[in-house]
Amino acid sequence: MKILVIGSGGREHAIAWKLAQSTKITQVYVAPGNGGTSNSNNIKNIPITNIDELANFAEEENINITIVGPEAPLAEGIVDKFQNRDLRIFGPTKSAARLESSKKFAKDFMSRHGIPTAKYSTFSKTEEALSYLRKEGAPIVIKADGLASGKGVVVASTIKEAEDAVIEMLDIKKLDKIIIEECLTGEEASFIVMSDGINIMPLATSQDHKRLKDGDNGPNTGGMGAYSPASIVTPDLHNRIMKEIIIPTIQGMAKDGIPFMGFLYAGVMISPGSDAERSIKTLEFNCRLGDPETQPIMMRMKSDFVEIIDNALHGTLDKTEIIWDRRVALGVVLAADNYPDNPITDDTINGIPNEKEDCVVFHAATKISDGKYKTDGGRILCVTTLGDSVRIAREKAYKTISNIHFNGMQYRSDIGWRSLK
Ligand code: AMP
Ligand code: GLY
Repeated sequence: MKILVIGSGGREHAIAWKLAQSTKITQVYVAPGNGGTSNSNNIKNIPITNIDELANFAEEENINITIVGPEAPLAEGIVDKFQNRDLRIFGPTKSAARLESSKKFAKDFMSRHGIPTAKYSTFSKTEEALSYLRKEGAPIVIKADGLASGKGVVVASTIKEAEDAVIEMLDIKKLDKIIIEECLTGEEASFIVMSDGINIMPLATSQDHKRLKDGDNGPNTGGMGAYSPASIVTPDLHNRIMKEIIIPTIQGMAKDGIPFMGFLYAGVMISPGSDAERSIKTLEFNCRLGDPETQPIMMRMKSDFVEIIDNALHGTLDKTEIIWDRRVALGVVLAADNYPDNPITDDTINGIPNEKEDCVVFHAATKISDGKYKTDGGRILCVTTLGDSVRIAREKAYKTISNIHFNGMQYRSDIGWRSLK
């Protein structure tokens, strides 16, 4: 089979790396890919990003399956376009992708279907938004309605911060709509499933680290590291997340006439307490795999990923099983100087080790120039390891990182801390 993966991040490297291990694969293409995907067996980069040109490529090359990494092409309707041309693609349609591309759609959907989430209101007028948040008080959360590359959420600890966020979004950026919602507390987990529109196959759980700095300080980022499984998601909580969030979402979308096929990622907030006391609320939906969560998830997947996606496209996920490595996988992101604002690029990267069974360095924003790996964006690499515990996986990751170098390299030294606390 020939498979096309759309995207260029660490997530897409991990997806392509896993697909390329399948005996069913003759070639994996990544469009546009990165330095890591340009330099692996069975994996080839294609310098195309335009959706129509991608569809032309898939048609001309007889691509059997296309898999979409990031949200932007899904929100633009890549799945609809491919399907209209009878090209097999795994992902939600533009309409179903609104679960991520419109926070208002997602919140209204959840409230209609009784799916637990933070209390919220939608606003287009600054005065109304300001008077609502003054009435509610801080802390409070302000969210842009549309896709914002991870910059659309402000968790405001004071009214002043919240007012500034409202003014910035509605008056300065001239956004149509914002959501103001109750600030939830607890521990977050990433709960990702695959769906063929009806059947649901949960993937291994994981936990991201969104803030730039150790101890969850500093600005929000795309994610600075992740491990799988997420220790907080006990079997009991796993059942509840499926029952309270995932199943009603897939069933609700089908009932509303917009069946969801693809990867569905629920960001959940789990309140403190014993399992029985805890409440579980949906912070957000993403209509794709997470980055960096995918890197540890792919390290743990023992089954043939091509077969699983093929089954999903045939609507037979109910007859599918996924075997997971019992070890913990943990990925630490190495980011460029000045990330997340304006990362400095074009630095030479040294010391990337060869792949080992229990340690893979997935590339994100890298390129090859003059025969060397160079930095090419914000998040550069994700050093991902397997170990019998979080502690062991983490020691391996940081030992590997001690040999890797580029100017201004930033990383957190505490990935997995919640599990170890
Ligand atoms: P989102 O893009 O909606 O996932 O938000 C990004 C991050 O903002 C989440 O991972 C949380 O850390 C935080 N966040 C979002 N909504 C809330 C909320 N209602 N209460 C507290 N934190 C939130
Ligand atoms: N790591 C968070 C995300 O992929 O949205």
